[in-house]
Amino acid sequence: MRGKFITLEGIDGAGKSTHLPWLVRLCENRGIAVRSTREPGGTALGERLRALLLDREQALGPETETLLMFAARREHLEKVILPALESGVWILCDRFTDATYAYQSGGSGLAWDKVAALEQWVHPDFQPDLTLYFDVSPDVARRRMALNPPDRFEREDPAYFQRVREAYLRRARSSPKRIRVVDASGAIDDIHKELEVIISSYCLKA
Ligand code: TYD
Repeated sequence: MRGKFITLEGIDGAGKSTHLPWLVRLCENRGIAVRSTREPGGTALGERLRALLLDREQALGPETETLLMFAARREHLEKVILPALESGVWILCDRFTDATYAYQSGGSGLAWDKVAALEQWVHPDFQPDLTLYFDVSPDVARRRMALNPPDRFEREDPAYFQRVREAYLRRARSSPKRIRVVDASGAIDDIHKELEVIISSYCLKA
């Protein structure tokens, strides 16, 4: 049976990187063959593009960013995501196309339709089976991130992250079945309980 494609989304500091390894273990404990990966990245080319995209020395406009994100995504789909799903392995992916809508369009102002055109070109008829969107205010996220040095995106101001958040919520409203909004401001244990319920009901349906 084909594997499931599950993506994790949220503004920087929402806690995806804490929840991803936990979700991998949850799936493994249920006997699911699972692999985690990330965007931008996930392939040799993608990781090189990621280094450029996150590099604070680069000044990139949202058009260039979007084109590079989708170049990395195409490679990732061809080399990693689709072959794994076809062989029955589930993929848990840290960010996917919803992030391009949220950051390059919501955050940086690129026309929504331009992202839609590339989405249509790069992965027509293909969407995640399930997206977990970790929702948190820019204030809470900023306090969580304060411990590590910021990359190029993390340097943006709270108003930018508020726009990113609003774009994610717009995506969630337009695909309510696919995108599950998880309140990520609370205690980790409570979030994990909620994730367990979502994944359990999802496995029953799968
Ligand atoms: P992130 O996923 O937060 O990784 P880490 O936890 O290692 O910092 O970093 C990836 C950054 O890339 C994040 O700031 C958002 C940005 N991004 C976009 O702007 N557009 C995209 O399409 C994707 C996939 C990521």
